Parts: sequence; structure tokens; C-alpha cells
Amino acid sequence: MEHIQIAIDGPAGAGKSTIAKLLAAKLGFIYIDSGAMYRAVTLKAMKLGVDLEDERAYDFVENTKFTFVDGNLYMDNIDVSKEIRQTAVSNNVSLVSSYYFVRLELVKAQQALAKSHNVVMDGRDIGYQVLPHAKYKFYLTASIAQRAKRRYYDNLERNISSDLNIIEQEIERRDHFDTTREHSPLKAADDAIIIDTSNLSIDQVVSLIEDKVREEENHEF
Ligand code: DC
Repeated sequence: MEHIQIAIDGPAGAGKSTIAKLLAAKLGFIYIDSGAMYRAVTLKAMKLGVDLEDERAYDFVENTKFTFVDGNLYMDNIDVSKEIRQTAVSNNVSLVSSYYFVRLELVKAQQALAKSHNVVMDGRDIGYQVLPHAKYKFYLTASIAQRAKRRYYDNLERNISSDLNIIEQEIERRDHFDTTREHSPLKAADDAIIIDTSNLSIDQVVSLIEDKVREEENHEF
């Protein structure tokens, strides 16, 4: 049986991961957070003490195992879902995810994960690179001000104090880096449906996508 693939791309703070996770739970699909895999590679490189700026230092990715259980990422059989959210990892992940070899290996791993299950996968290059034949492709976006506000309140919930202006600047910097990098920049697939989430609630976006998929699949699951 052909498995159903739902690709969700977009910049940081557009609500992708929250939406993808909820959508997967509602549909009974597996949620694959590709950004978490780039974060995990960054974490492992930091733990191994390799020179993060040396692209040749990442051959360990080839022998690294990734699995998702209930939306949590296990790297080499250890749950790293909390550790990969550390600020030090966030600060280095843009660099690590810009390396060709890292992307090559992680794209292979992501494609393998999507082969045997119905999946919702979110990231930056899913619709045009990782799963170019996905039946459903969405690109979520939102204004910088709105995305910064969301990150700010996320941080508050996690008891992390932050400054809204600084978050806005960081988002702009990250957008610029992610959209202009040489390998697999952030962009929408030509056949993706673009959804601006600035004035929509999480539930509204989830329903929009869920309704579309269920309708197309004749409400079979
Ligand atoms: O979604 P996130 O913020 O956890 O992603 C972490 C980093 O990984 C971010 O800098 C973009 C990068 N990334 C990527 O290059 N390709 C993906 N498919 C997913 C994330």
C-alpha cells in the first residue's frame, strides 16, 4: 500500500511543529520533526567535541540512528528531545544544517522513515527535496512580528526570559541565513499550498489541513 505523506515547510515560528504534531495525532500518522534531527546532529557534534566549522568532521552522521516515538526523537536509542532545545544547540544548528554532507545523510534517513508509515513531516525542504512526491504539501508562513511574539510566549512558558526586539532580530537573521544558504534553502515547493498563519489559531490551521486531507481521502481514516 502507498503510504500517505504530508509535507509541511516554513520558517521558524510559523507554528509548523505544533500544527504538524497535532495533525499527526488526529490522523493517526507518525510525526517526523526534521529540524529535531539537525538539532540532534548539532548536539552530538558538540558532545564529541569536534570543530563545528569543519565540514569534514560530520562523518559520524552516517552511523547515527534516528527514531521517533510519540513525536520524541531518539538518537542512538536515547531520547534527546529535551537536550536538543538548549540555547547552545539553537545557536549552532543553522551552521550545521548548512553542510552538504549533513543534509545528504539526514535526507536519506528522513526518506527511510517516511517509507513505511503514513507521515506528517515538517521542515524547510520537505516538499521540494525530501518528499517531492508527497500527496499533500503545505507551506506555513506568518509575519516576523507575529512569529517573534509566539517565540516570546513560548519562552515565557518554559520560564526563559527574553527580549521581543532581540527575538525579532534573531528571526530575521535566521530567515536570511536559511533562505540564502547554498544547499537546500528554505522555500515552498511549486505545488505547495501556502497558508499565512498570522491571524489564524493553531486549531484553525490544523482543521484546515485535516479537512482537506480527509475530504481527499474520502474520510477513510
Ligand atoms: O525547526 P527547527 O528550528 O527546530 O530547525 C532547526 C534548524 O534546522 C533550522 O536552522 C533550520 C534547519 N532545518 C533545515 O535546514 N532543514 C530542515 N528540513 C529542517 C530544519
